[in-house]
Amino acid sequence: MDERVLITGGAGFIGLQLAKALVAQGAQVTLVDNFSRGRNDQDLQEILHKVTLVELDLTQPIPENALRNDYTHIYHMAAVVGVHVSNQRPEFVLRTNVLATINVLDWCSRRNPVPLCFASTSEVYAGSVQLGLALCQLPRAFHWPSPILVFHATRIYPARSWGSNSV
Ligand SMILES: NC(=O)c1ccc[n+]([C@@H]2O[C@H](COP(=O)([O-])OP(=O)(O)OC[C@H]3O[C@@H](n4cnc5c(N)ncnc54)[C@H](O)[C@@H]3O)[C@@H](O)[C@H]2O)c1
Repeated sequence: MDERVLITGGAGFIGLQLAKALVAQGAQVTLVDNFSRGRNDQDLQEILHKVTLVELDLTQPIPENALRNDYTHIYHMAAVVGVHVSNQRPEFVLRTNVLATINVLDWCSRRNPVPLCFASTSEVYAGSVQLGLALCQLPRAFHWPSPILVFHATRIYPARSWGSNSV
């Protein structure tokens, strides 16, 4: 497999599992994380010799030479996630997720276009109630700072604003 993959939030739950799967398929993988939530634990240590790890805070612009320029795929998983933090610190969630996405898209816009996978949010799981897949209740109304509203704003709006057809 001749794939060179960038995973933001690569020390997190999904990013690390994705990295393991891609490494097992022979991809060259770069993980970016600021370790605000992801941990340099046993799980990460097990693949560290097979990946490149770059510690960056994505709320800041990505330095020009921090990453390679020839990725074939990008997975943007870096985010502040969770109902609790969205309820308690909505401004922090909005600020972090919007800035991180803007900085990743800005960095991409200065390079050849490649497919970018932009994660949605587990906060929309309640929609699966209608499908009979989950037991939790849907919120009756969106209110500020409803976790769903905060997350929709941070994870969906930026992608639409950029109008990218590869997101
Ligand atoms: N876990 C789920 O069930 C689920 C379901 C659907 C969608 N998602 C989405 O997938 C993405 C990843 O979710 P996860 O469960 O792996 O979360 P996670 O918290 O385990 O991973 C997110 C990673 O992003 C990193 N991060 C946070 N702020 C950063 C910053 N400023 N700069 C660099 N890195 C930063 C954290 O340190 C963490 O390692 C999120 O967008 C989430 O909404 C998750």
